[in-house]
Amino acid sequence: MNNEYPFYNRVLIKEVINGLTGELTDLAVEDGVFVAELTGEPDRVIEGAGLTALPGLIDAHAHLRDPGFEYREDIVSGTRAAARGGFTAVAAMPNTIPVADSAPVIRYMIEKAGQAGYCRVLPIGAVTKGQKGEEIAEIGFMAEAGAVAFSDDGKPVSAAGIVRTAIEYASYFDRVVISHCEDLSLAAGGVINEGIVSTEMGLRGIPSIAEDIQIDRDTRIAEYSGLPVHIAHVSTANGVEIIRQAKARGVKVTAETCPHYFTLTEEAVRGFHTMAKVNPPLREESDRLAVIEGLRDGTLDMIVTDHAPHHEDEKDCEFSLANNGMIGLETCFPLVYTVLVKTGLLSLRDAILKMTEAPARLFRLPVPALAAGEPADLTLVDLGREIVYDVSESLSKARNTPFSGMALYGFPVLTMMAGHTTWEQV
Ligand code: DOR
Repeated sequence: MNNEYPFYNRVLIKEVINGLTGELTDLAVEDGVFVAELTGEPDRVIEGAGLTALPGLIDAHAHLRDPGFEYREDIVSGTRAAARGGFTAVAAMPNTIPVADSAPVIRYMIEKAGQAGYCRVLPIGAVTKGQKGEEIAEIGFMAEAGAVAFSDDGKPVSAAGIVRTAIEYASYFDRVVISHCEDLSLAAGGVINEGIVSTEMGLRGIPSIAEDIQIDRDTRIAEYSGLPVHIAHVSTANGVEIIRQAKARGVKVTAETCPHYFTLTEEAVRGFHTMAKVNPPLREESDRLAVIEGLRDGTLDMIVTDHAPHHEDEKDCEFSLANNGMIGLETCFPLVYTVLVKTGLLSLRDAILKMTEAPARLFRLPVPALAAGEPADLTLVDLGREIVYDVSESLSKARNTPFSGMALYGFPVLTMMAGHTTWEQV
């Protein structure tokens, strides 16, 4: 466990609001688990008045860059940022060096996160060797080593036959394939959404159909196989509709979106603002509204960060050359709360479930709960306090976010993993 915060064996959190039920409650933690009653006097009392307790959040999609790109982020900095964002588990995508396509890399990630002691890392193994899209990776060995799912995220798997085999093979190990949906024959060369903004800025566009066509393809493969598939970072209105219809047909498809797709549109890249350059690209207002509707009606099961740290030099350059992605671990819950919950678009309970229960089910993990006998994974958030997010204070190594300077509510003030403090605002 981390040495940054002292450990208290018996902790009493007094008069906090349970975010799932809205009830005022005391929470008692002993030996790292929630208990109905402490067996003795508390070692620490936390005054919870005005705070809301959430079960430890799970991010089903982040890039921690470790091994290989530690100049952007590493497992220690990434998990510290995750804890600050209220997460107690974060799933790490395999686009590392070496690619996480073998059991030793999976084990390395889990062990390093365990030693750091800020947040569990749930490695996602590559679907294909080297993420080259050609040969299925050692899915079984990686599952045995602790990989929670398989994805070539960052790149699509272009061959439908490989997707089918991967879905079938992963299911032997009770694991799901997470599909980064992008038809490269339609998308390649594009740098922002294809539309009025790309035309006006003179930039090559990525048409929404590049995403839609592959969402359709992969949900149909799942339907044909009768097996689950999970669609990563949905950004388009048609993509949401394709998933909605697939679910209505009984397809075992689950899907995620990220805060930037329900907060921003392609307008954010005007001025050649590379911080808003992301893949899939920010789309139109109609897409943003459709993503929100998808979250509301359950078509989109979960909200993930797609935390994608990059070095300053990879963003502070010509727009077309800038890397895709933005960091998101620290701003995810505050954006969800400020943009969706505070405005009445989504209930707090649904928002929490999309960041706890849904990812836990995707990875076949126990669902986090603020209940006696469960591991004491929680975050206390201040829903009433407005804070202007200042990325210069981020615990991530990276600074690439379009959200710095934005006033948000719901920042975590304390995060605990198995009873150990992993973040506390001083
Ligand atoms: O914007 C993105 N950045 N999208 C991806 O799919 C990959 C990610 C990264 O790894 O930087």
